[in-house]
Amino acid sequence: SHLRSTDIRTDNSPLQIFVKAKKKINDIFVEIEDYVQDTVGFMKSLQAERNIVTAEEGERIESYVDKVHAIRDVLKRDHMKVAFFGRTSNGKSTVINAMLRDKILPSGIGHTTNCFLQVEGSDNGESYLITEGSTEKQPVQSVGQLGHALCKEKLCESHLVRIFWPKEKCLLLRDDVVFVDSPGVDVTPNLDEWIDKHCLDADVFVLVANAESTLMVTEKNFFHKVSTKLSKPNIFILNNRWDASASEPEFFEQLVKEQKEVRAQHQERAVDFLSRELKVYTPKDAEERVFFVSAKETLQARLQEQRGQPSHNGALAEGFQTRYFEFQDFERKFEECISKSAVKTKFEQHSQRGKHIATEIRQTLDEILDRTQKMKSEQLHIKKEVHDKLNYTEQQLMLLTQEMKDKIHHMVEDVEQRVSKALSE
Ligand code: GTP
Ligand code: MG
Repeated sequence: SHLRSTDIRTDNSPLQIFVKAKKKINDIFVEIEDYVQDTVGFMKSLQAERNIVTAEEGERIESYVDKVHAIRDVLKRDHMKVAFFGRTSNGKSTVINAMLRDKILPSGIGHTTNCFLQVEGSDNGESYLITEGSTEKQPVQSVGQLGHALCKEKLCESHLVRIFWPKEKCLLLRDDVVFVDSPGVDVTPNLDEWIDKHCLDADVFVLVANAESTLMVTEKNFFHKVSTKLSKPNIFILNNRWDASASEPEFFEQLVKEQKEVRAQHQERAVDFLSRELKVYTPKDAEERVFFVSAKETLQARLQEQRGQPSHNGALAEGFQTRYFEFQDFERKFEECISKSAVKTKFEQHSQRGKHIATEIRQTLDEILDRTQKMKSEQLHIKKEVHDKLNYTEQQLMLLTQEMKDKIHHMVEDVEQRVSKALSE
């Protein structure tokens, strides 16, 4: 039932932009590979027969076989990457779990994320983890086990543990989205290392802020650093724990009023940060990047739905539905943003290179064709010359024979005349 409920989204999910583009560019590279192979075969046959193709040309074209193959390998591994940052306990791991619709990452007290965790889809329904520098697949059956495995590893905070989770359990994983969870930005002096190691190929960044407090200098600094290394990073700001943000005033009206004010203030600061400070968006576009959500509620609701129970079981706080919709709204905008960005950053380069290879091969083939045509016309020319010469000789011979005939004729006539003259005399 869990897959059924998410299936509905499949066809119109903006992630399909990336999925379809990936399929298309893969198909194109299969064609390019065929084309290169054919050309290599053709050139070999030419080389064997005559000296129409130079050894250099042959080698150059043959080198494209490996190049195209390497691109196809990279293409297979290309994915969309989203990285989550924020201060400790803001709910980064919970946000990821909510998006994955399952408690995959350990969260909460005693489960502080202390290194980089990358969640990606696995085939064949396998779940396992691989630590940095190792190729060993450590099987993981549950979150508890995962938490345990992570604790015993004694990992350095900038290290990366890759968690492979069955693709069929989550549409985002199936559609090649890779999630990166991080330790709190407030606990490390190594932000530069973090950025170099984990952020340069991220398509989208999500700042998980705490709606109960304002954006902190450490959080801002991190994104300032990111934007010096990446021009115009895609950033979303989630004001998480929005369910817990209101104080507990006596009257409902009071609560609504307070929440409105708090929201307006957070919104203004976040927009200001994205537009005026980081200069990554116009204020108008920045408005679209800020959300007020509760990851905890969303995750709970989704787990409930999967059990076939209503998402709202009455125990949830006031305003749950609005926050839940806002989380879904965030996901939709996120999916659109990440798939478009990934298509651009990942496939633009590949298509340029594919184009370049096709052009190079075409040029070489054109040159070869040119050369063979020249050779052909040269041969024709020689043939014609010989032909002309033959004609001339033939004509000369004909003339010559005619002349001789005439001469002999004359001679005979002359002799005849002389003989008859002599006889008559
Ligand atoms: P570190 O890994 O320690 O940096 O923290 P984190 O940012 O990953 O936070 P985590 O997801 O572990 O959440 C910390 C605590 O906050 C957990 O107990 C969560 O259940 C709780 N929490 C997360 N999101 C929300 C939320 O939206 N509302 C409320 N009320 N609690 C939340
Ligand atoms: Mg965490």
